[in-house]
This record gives sequence, C-alpha cells and structure tokens, in this order.
Amino acid sequence: MTLSERRRQLDAGLLAHRNLWHPQPFREARPAWCDAWPALTAALLVLDDAETEYLNDDVPAALRWLAGYVPDIDALLPLIDIPAAPQAMPPVAGERWAWEIPGRKREQIEAFAGAVQPAGGGVIDWCGGKGHLGRLLGLAWKKPVHTLEIDAALCADGEQLAQRIGLDHSFLERDALAVSDWPQSGQHAVALHACGDLHRRLVEHGASAGVARLDVAPCCYYRGVEAHYQTLSAGGQLQLTRDDTRLAVTETVTASPRLTRQRDHAIAWKLAFTSWREQVSDAPYKTFKPVPASWLRGNFADFLTNMAAREGLPSPLLRYLKPIETTGWQRQREVARLAIPRHAFRRALELWLVLDLAEYLDERGYKSALTTFCRRELTPRNLLLSAKRT
Ligand SMILES: C[S@@+](CC[C@H](N)C(=O)[O-])C[C@H]1O[C@@H](n2cnc3c(N)ncnc32)[C@H](O)[C@@H]1O
Repeated sequence: MTLSERRRQLDAGLLAHRNLWHPQPFREARPAWCDAWPALTAALLVLDDAETEYLNDDVPAALRWLAGYVPDIDALLPLIDIPAAPQAMPPVAGERWAWEIPGRKREQIEAFAGAVQPAGGGVIDWCGGKGHLGRLLGLAWKKPVHTLEIDAALCADGEQLAQRIGLDHSFLERDALAVSDWPQSGQHAVALHACGDLHRRLVEHGASAGVARLDVAPCCYYRGVEAHYQTLSAGGQLQLTRDDTRLAVTETVTASPRLTRQRDHAIAWKLAFTSWREQVSDAPYKTFKPVPASWLRGNFADFLTNMAAREGLPSPLLRYLKPIETTGWQRQREVARLAIPRHAFRRALELWLVLDLAEYLDERGYKSALTTFCRRELTPRNLLLSAKRT
C-alpha cells in the first residue's frame, strides 16, 4: 500500500469513528457515543483493573476487543502496522562518542542512527541538544556535521564533546523557528524528537531548501498548534483540534506501578474537584490550570480547599468531603474504562499526522518511506519518516 493510500484510508477510518475518539471522558461523564453503543458501554464498565490497563496500553488489542462491538473498527489494524527499519550501523566505539549519555537516550540514538542511510554532503542535526546523534553519524559516515540548537549551554557542551574526538562538528546556536539559512541544499537533515512545529518547520524549510534527504522521528505533535492543526499537505478531510493532536502522544509505556498509582490518584482528585464544581456552578466544563504537585501529596480537604479558592468557588462543608472524594474515585474508574475507545485511535492519529508530512514532501519531489526505528518500549515515539530527493 502506498503512503498516500494509507493516509486516505486512515482519514476515512478516523472520520467514520470520530465520535469515539474525539470526546474526552475526563470532561464528559458520559460521552454521546455511550447512548449509541450501550452494549459496548456496559462491557467497558465491567472490565477489571488489569484488563483496563492492558486495553488502554495495547492499541491493536484494544481495536480487536472493540471490533466485538463496533463494526469495521479493526480495518485500522493493517493501517497502523508499520514495518521496522532494517538496522545497519557502521561500528563506532561507544567510548569515543557516548560520554554522558543516559542509557535509554543512547539506545534511542543508536537505533535511529542504525535505521538511516547516508546521503548528501553533510549532516544537519535539527534541534540536536548536545549533538549526540550528529556526533555518532559524523563518526560513522565520516562527514561534517552541523547541530542546530537554541540552548547555548547545550551547544557549548556539545562543542566540547566534539573537540574531545576531533570531529568536524559545528554548533549553530539558533532558533529553528526563525532561522532561514539552515538547512541547506544538499544536506542530510536528521531530527530525533524535535517537538511539533520544530519538526514541521524542518520539513517545510528542508523541502524548499532542497535537502538531499530527511530522516525525522517526530514527537509532541501538539506543540505550536493553536486551536486547530493546519495540514501541510493538500489531501485529507479530517480536521484535528489541538487536543486531538495531544491524543496522539498520550501513552505511558514506561510508567512503573508507583507512577501508575500516582496518576490514578491525581485523576481521581481532579475529578472530585470537577464534580464539586458541577454541584456549585452551572457553567459549562472549562479546563483548569495545572495542579501543583504538592497539593496532590497533601490531604484531600486541603487539596479541595486550595482548588476551590483558586478557581473562585466556595469550599465544601467538612461533611461533604468524603462523598466528593468517593465520587472522584468512582469517576476515575469509569474514565479509565470509557477512555479505551479513545486511546485505541491514538496510533492511527499519529500516523495520520506523520503521513501529512510525508505527503507534503512527496508533493515537492521527495520519495518518502515510513518505518519504526526502535521497539515501542524504548520510546513510543518510534516512527521514522525518511524522504529522499528524487
Ligand atoms: C526533545 S529534545 C531532543 C534533543 C535531541 N534531538 C535528542 O534526541 O537528544 C528537543 C531539543 O530541541 C531544542 N529546542 C527547543 N526549541 C528550539 C528552537 N526553537 N530552536 C532550536 N532548538 C530548539 C531543545 O533545547 C532540545 O535540545
């Protein structure tokens, strides 16, 4: 299947099921689809904790489970199945390039480097931090490297690391969103986890500058999106809000049981606050500012008093505290279950966003390919868009 056919089918599948993934159960106690799919709603609400965790985490398993209730939803399965890139990294001794890099980061960089093929006159590592990826590619391919990075301290550290091994590696301390003279024609642009508009900017400017090749592993698609996502390419009917683009990255494969408990606790208390707000105010749902972590570590009475004061609401009487907290925990249980359909679409949304970049590049004389550069456990942001100028 070509990438544009995949995008067309994802576009149609996402549009057809928008009522399942667009509403946020955290905000709506019963999303409208619950009325349309009563058997599904009932089956979700009786799942035990382990099944709930599993189906929220494993997208293909969730789509297969949902297919028992929602016809055609499993047509998404082949569309989100992306092949792993073959790994072929020229050997580079670790002690020569990998000083100071934490283990997981190093594995991601090595996997990315192993999945990309050299092209062009030199490498530009876009939003490259200390330039670890650029340094590895420069050593492996024996090519000059530029790392573009906004943070002066990271550039200075990266320069020192490059000097220690005598590599031709320059740092451009620049704002990727404002720079107009980089990347340059004929360069090979790489970007590992440049967030949102940082990777979109590279794709747009790289294509107009005529880079030889781009290898981009995108992340944080919502960064730089205002109310709605503006597609780069021409095709597609789907329109995404900023919150929809956030859904593409809502997964926590690295969460420990302790972090999972902390997450559930925070959600339960926030839902307790929203239930109190519903009791004392008729205003429609509105988002609230991030809750200070210290408020969540204290006791529930202080938490709710602080939240109510901050949001301009009356504090509850002491005798209502227990029932409000209990409601919060009940809602947390339901939200975790009713979020399963929404979460089942996050990879499809992510692919749709990445294929928007691929189509844009193909419309401008590139030939794009999509692979995964590492297993999901190493980073869920494991998609690699590779585009070669034809
Ligand atoms: C998630 S990190 C990825 C760093 C590196 N590519 C890696 O994988 O180790 C994103 C980097 O983008 C840089 N950055 C953020 N905004 C930027 C901007 N406007 N221009 C250039 N770099 C930026 C950050 O300082 C950070 O080093």
